[in-house]
Amino acid sequence: MTHHASYPALRLRRTRRYAWSRAMVAEHVLTPADLIWPLFVTEGTQTEEPIGTLPGVSRWSIDLLVQRAKEAAALGIPCLALFPNTPHALRSARGEEALNPENLMCRASRAIKDAGVPIGILTDVALDPYTAHGHDGLVDAEGRVLNDETMEILVEQALNQARAGADIIAPSDMMDGRIGLIRAALEGERFADVQIMAYAAKYASAFYGPFRDAVGSRGLLKGDKKGYQMDSANAEEALREVALDLAEGADTVMVKPGLPYLDIVALVKRRFEVPVFAYQVSGEYAMIEAAVAAGAGERDGLVMETLMAFKRAGASGVLTYHALHAARLMGG
Ligand code: PBG
Repeated sequence: MTHHASYPALRLRRTRRYAWSRAMVAEHVLTPADLIWPLFVTEGTQTEEPIGTLPGVSRWSIDLLVQRAKEAAALGIPCLALFPNTPHALRSARGEEALNPENLMCRASRAIKDAGVPIGILTDVALDPYTAHGHDGLVDAEGRVLNDETMEILVEQALNQARAGADIIAPSDMMDGRIGLIRAALEGERFADVQIMAYAAKYASAFYGPFRDAVGSRGLLKGDKKGYQMDSANAEEALREVALDLAEGADTVMVKPGLPYLDIVALVKRRFEVPVFAYQVSGEYAMIEAAVAAGAGERDGLVMETLMAFKRAGASGVLTYHALHAARLMGG
C-alpha cells in the first residue's frame, strides 16, 4: 500500500488557510447596512446619562442624539430605533403622553429629520415608556392588559409618530390585531410609504431588564408581561404570529430576543421568505459586556460572531446596541 492511500480525499481546511481564501468562500457577509441602532432619548440639552446596567450605552438629549445619528449615517448604518425616557411626572395609567405631538419621541424624530441626516427612523409602538404601571397597554382592575381598548390608543400613537417623521412603525406591544388597524390608519392619512416592522414573535423574556432601566420602567412594572408576550416554550406559535402580522400588512417582521431565539429566526425565514430582523436585546448586550469585564471574552470577537450568527440564520438585519462599534469594526 502506498502512503498516498492515507491522504484525506478532501481537505476542507485548504480554503481556510489564508484570509483571502476565507473571504472568497464566505457564505455570509456583515456590512453596516445590516445594523439598526437602538438609541435612548432624554430631556435636556448637552445631556448624556449613562445606564448602569448597559455599560457603554447612554440616554442622550435631543441635541446630542442628532450628533449620534450623524455618526451612524456616516458609518453606513441605515436606521435608528428611538426609545424615550419619559419624565415620570408625565406617565399615567393610560399613557396619554404617547399621543402628545410634542413628546420626546416626536421632537427627537423631527430633530433628526430637520437636520437632514440621511438615516431611517424606526419608532416603537407600545405604551410602556408612558404608563405609570410599566405595561405596554391599558390595565384593568385585575391587572390584565386590555387588548382592544389598547389597540385604539396604539393606532393614535402610530399616527402621532408618522406625523413626526417616523419611517418605520414598529409595534412591540403584542396586542392581537393591531397591525391591520395601524396599516389602515396610516393609509387613511396618506402615509402609504411608512413601513411597518412588526415585533411579530416577541417573547416574555428575562433579557429585557437593562432596557427597562434605560426607559425608566423597571421600578414601575407591576407583575410580568406573560399575558401578552410569547412563552419561550413555543415555536409554532411564533409562525402563527408572523402569519397574522403579514396578512394584516406588516412589511417586515422581527424576532426578539435574538440569540436565544435563533431557531425562530431560521424557521420564520424558511417559512415566509420575507425580510426578518432580530433584536439582540439589552440583556444580551449586557452579557457580552459582563464577559468582557470579567476577562472571559474579547469584545470585538464576541460582537462580530454573534452578529454573523443572525445573518447565517437568515436575518436581514439586527437591532443591536453594539451597532456603532460593529460598524466601525466593519470599516464602515
Ligand atoms: C417594550 C419594549 C421592550 C423592549 C423593546 N420594546 C421591553 C419590554 O417588552 O418589556 C426591550 C428591548 C431590549 O431589552 O433591548 N415595548
